[in-house]
Amino acid sequence: MTFARVAGVGSFLPPNRVSNADLVDRGVDTNDEWIVTRTGIRARHLAEAGQTSSELAFEASRRALDMAGATADDIDLIIVATSTPDFVFPSTACLLQAKLGNKGAVAFDVQAVCSGFVYALTIAEKFIRSGSHKKALVVGAEVFSRILDWNDRGTCVLFGDGAGAVVLEASERPGLLATALHADGAHHGILSVPGNLCGGKVIGDPFLRMDGQAVFKFAVRVLADVAHECCELAKLAPAAIDWLIPHQANIRIIEATAKKMGLPMEKVVVTVDQHGNTSAASVPLALDAAVRDGRIRRGQKVMLEGVGGGFTWGAVLLEF
Ligand code: UT7
Repeated sequence: MTFARVAGVGSFLPPNRVSNADLVDRGVDTNDEWIVTRTGIRARHLAEAGQTSSELAFEASRRALDMAGATADDIDLIIVATSTPDFVFPSTACLLQAKLGNKGAVAFDVQAVCSGFVYALTIAEKFIRSGSHKKALVVGAEVFSRILDWNDRGTCVLFGDGAGAVVLEASERPGLLATALHADGAHHGILSVPGNLCGGKVIGDPFLRMDGQAVFKFAVRVLADVAHECCELAKLAPAAIDWLIPHQANIRIIEATAKKMGLPMEKVVVTVDQHGNTSAASVPLALDAAVRDGRIRRGQKVMLEGVGGGFTWGAVLLEF
């Protein structure tokens, strides 16, 4: 039986680290205490003007390829999850492909906002298990700072920029054990960037808008539900999970999810304090941090979870 197994992980944060105090200095009507107690966020990284998602994706991908002992030429599938693509088209995946010097791989973007990475990983798994592809590069990359209204303190303090990547390869050893994806477009209005380009102009609102409390309640409910669903599919008790990596948006959402799963916080990877909500990049950023610092080891069971605009949500249970 062919599995899709993680061969390498990598991530990249743009060097410009902006603390909560820095935001206050820049004139945002907020304070460190509010941001830390309501969200757990202490800092975010912001891309330089002109630094794009494909550039962040490139740095994360190089690290993941290195860990996998693979070269760009070995890759036959590139999927980039992003809601902040470099252009309307071509896809950020094609731009990443060109930067890597890869020719001929399938390359496309996935738009599922903060669930984008688990969507992309699940899609890549289907390609690999079907036997059509052997080695995939799956990336979450975002420059959310470009779509923030810096006068809206209810949103601008929450998000940051970054990228994370995984090399997923065909293997006889177990890898991804179960996946579950969902969406409910009826909730599209509680988190959106409700603008578009038409006739050379932005029509509508080009900034991220969010009903924070509605998103909060929705996220807590579906993250616990989908994690349980994945456990049932894999016939694994939640207690058997070694590491839970939920979408890094808010420490209170993460804690509530862990509680509903009956998992102690010692089994939960938290990086939201260091980079805020990086949307599709948040899960692979946290995964990379915990692999590189030695917490996640080969053979351990890891649950990845995403939730975001759409509304979309999903989980991937894997043996690392
Ligand atoms: O990837 C998924 C994306 N999003 C999320 O996961 C976010 C989900 N939602 C949340 O995390 C929370 O709802 C927030 C962190 C966004 C907000 O926390 P909250 O506890 O729901 O606060 P709130 O929106 O009800 O606002 C409470 C107060 C308000 O003041 P008043 O009306 O009570 O006087 C806000 O004006 O906090 C005020 N406030 C702020 N104060 C200082 C809102 N933003 C800020 C701020 N600094 N940045």
